[in-house]
Amino acid sequence: MAAAAVLAAAVSCGRAGRTAIVRDAEIERKVEATLSGMTLDDKIGQMVQLAITNILDESLAKIDTNKLNTVIGTYRVGSILNVARNKANPAAATADLVREMQRVSMRELGIPCLYGLDMIHGASYLDEGTLFPQEIGMAATFNLEAVRAMGTAIGYESRAALVPWVFSPVMDLGRNACWSRHWESWGEDPYLSGEMSRVLVLADQGEDPNHIDKEHVATSIKHYMAYGVPLSGKDRTPAYVPYNELRERYFHPFKESIEAGALSLMVNSASINGLPVHANRELLTGWLKEDLGWDGMIITDWADVNNLYKRERVAEDKVNALALAVNAGIDMIMDPYDVACCADLKKAVEDGLVPMSRIDDAVRRILRLKYRLNLFDEPTWDTSGYELYREDFIAAAKQAAIESEVLLKNEDGILPLAQGTRILVTGPCGNSMRTLGGGWNYTWQGSKVDEFTESYNTIFEALAAKFGAANVRYVPGVAFNEAGKWYEELSPEIPAAVAAARQADVIVACVGENSYCESPGNLDDLTLSENQRNLVKALYQTGKPIVLILNEGRPRVVSDIEPLAKAVVDVMLPGNFGGDALAELLSGDANFSGKLPFTYPRAVNDLHTYDYKVSELVKTMGGMYDYDAKMEVQWRFGDGLSYTTFAYSDMSVDKTEFVSGDILTVSVKVINTGSVAGKESVLLFSSDLVASLVPDNRRLRAFDKIDLAPGESKVVELKLPADDLAFVGYDGLWRLEEGDFRLAAGSEHVMVRCARTKVWETPNK
Ligand code: BGC
Repeated sequence: MAAAAVLAAAVSCGRAGRTAIVRDAEIERKVEATLSGMTLDDKIGQMVQLAITNILDESLAKIDTNKLNTVIGTYRVGSILNVARNKANPAAATADLVREMQRVSMRELGIPCLYGLDMIHGASYLDEGTLFPQEIGMAATFNLEAVRAMGTAIGYESRAALVPWVFSPVMDLGRNACWSRHWESWGEDPYLSGEMSRVLVLADQGEDPNHIDKEHVATSIKHYMAYGVPLSGKDRTPAYVPYNELRERYFHPFKESIEAGALSLMVNSASINGLPVHANRELLTGWLKEDLGWDGMIITDWADVNNLYKRERVAEDKVNALALAVNAGIDMIMDPYDVACCADLKKAVEDGLVPMSRIDDAVRRILRLKYRLNLFDEPTWDTSGYELYREDFIAAAKQAAIESEVLLKNEDGILPLAQGTRILVTGPCGNSMRTLGGGWNYTWQGSKVDEFTESYNTIFEALAAKFGAANVRYVPGVAFNEAGKWYEELSPEIPAAVAAARQADVIVACVGENSYCESPGNLDDLTLSENQRNLVKALYQTGKPIVLILNEGRPRVVSDIEPLAKAVVDVMLPGNFGGDALAELLSGDANFSGKLPFTYPRAVNDLHTYDYKVSELVKTMGGMYDYDAKMEVQWRFGDGLSYTTFAYSDMSVDKTEFVSGDILTVSVKVINTGSVAGKESVLLFSSDLVASLVPDNRRLRAFDKIDLAPGESKVVELKLPADDLAFVGYDGLWRLEEGDFRLAAGSEHVMVRCARTKVWETPNK
């Protein structure tokens, strides 16, 4: 490390003596020079982000120069978000808007504007973006290379439109299946979420967070934190999470991402334990900036400072709400609707509610991000050389879709279906691109996909292409009311579907959810709609075998219809290639390899995660005193079948006794015992047998995905740092406790023992 960099690193060290990103001394010098020339108005403006509608003309497609001059020239606003016309645009048109913003920003301020979009599963706001499965499906692949490919496409295609900043990845843990953003998460597990997030951040940004090149973007990891576990299950409502759980589980993916170089972070719109996260100084400044020594930038979510006084009522008015948030550690205020935010923030400073040192710190972080993106030197450039929708991106998105779809049942080996099979496709998801895509898909609610997806195949179209148009029919049975709310269904035409089923050999019943996002996706009952369940029950009466396809953003309860199906596939939200992927899989031209990244509930009162406390399922006493609170699930975390079978054997570990700091190497042999090639995700779980807090049943600690030809075997080696077996105790401190641990993979397990307890005095290990 160069001497200057070492010095800068020392300056930015956090409470725990660590620094997330090693600073670039030259960038720091430039940040200070720019800051020193700024007025209070300049600084305030940099801290405000407005929605693009504030600078567009009536067509909502073009910039209104007067508005732009006012927003940037008068109010000195430093950042813009969201899309023109509220839906995806061509890359060239987006780039033109950015050029105009930058021209005015450089002329008026000498500081580039920071434009950000929600590109969460591909460049989802470009009409030609390559769209991958939503994160929940990417998690089901258990394939970090697939995630890397998605990040590469996001970075490249966003920059093709001169978009330098994306509000992604989502790393809220999807531990409440009711939550309307479950599908935006990597599922319920902290380790899986941490690995996927880290890899996506690196792929989006590239390896050097100080110098983001023209094929990469800055990330805004979100939504910090515990946003995925509202007690009510409704979006943006309070979560109640013990601090040791926050530290051990919810913080993990954020910490991993920040240590990988994530440059900015967006905050959970709701409250944890009664305190809105936007007002939580301990979590924002303490845990992120001080403990991790992180010099990145924290942005609010949509209008969330307003929520502090209008909704959460922890402040009297906007000025006080701004002071609360900025003092807690917010650096940029996403205030989409109102430039008046600038005057309010200025008043908060002039009234002495926010110290100038905090303003300077926030602005430094914003400038640093702009320098790291090299926007000062090159705010725009000629983008004609970029090739959108590249063949390698398409291939990666298709392969990811194949690996994301999870086979959960295959009674009597009904799948794969032979060529010549007469197939009835039915159900509201059977002929819809909208249901395959989900939200953040050309539009926020994913509702206008048909304008963009003409060239892609729905499930019906893909099956017709694969099995021959003469063999495949589509009769909806139940349809979504596209003009109504996402969950509204048109009066069922079940008899027509039943009649068609009688002419078919197999029924492919595609049930689930229409697309939604955020609060509009709130739900009162996790059970799949009655119409759709009635459709499946009526189809069952025909005696024809049913292949149940679940196309949904969260696990809707299907326990009464699951027994009626011979096969079940959860495709979740596989994106534009999801129909083709399913056709490949159902025909046997490709093999299933996805595994559930969440626990699929069987009953609405039994919402559960795989890492439940052991006391939840252990029988301790009999009779009336039986404490057994047994909960049943429909499918477990990690469940997923294949057309072949894998046998595990010879599991071993290089150390049976270990102490903190050791790395355990666990090996297990996996053999493909079936007759077709297949991929297997090998998952390593640990169980702490006795601990000072009730131990978790099991925890995922490592995974790898391998490819095996029939009869082939491989020895998979998984590295397990001993310190990963630590947990956060009741006192909030990390502890690795002496005693026995069980390590398991597939049918195999080994026992290991920690020889000495270690308790960390620092907040992070
Ligand atoms: C969402 C965020 C998103 C932001 C900007 C909010 O409503 O909660 O996830 O990044 O809007 O579009």
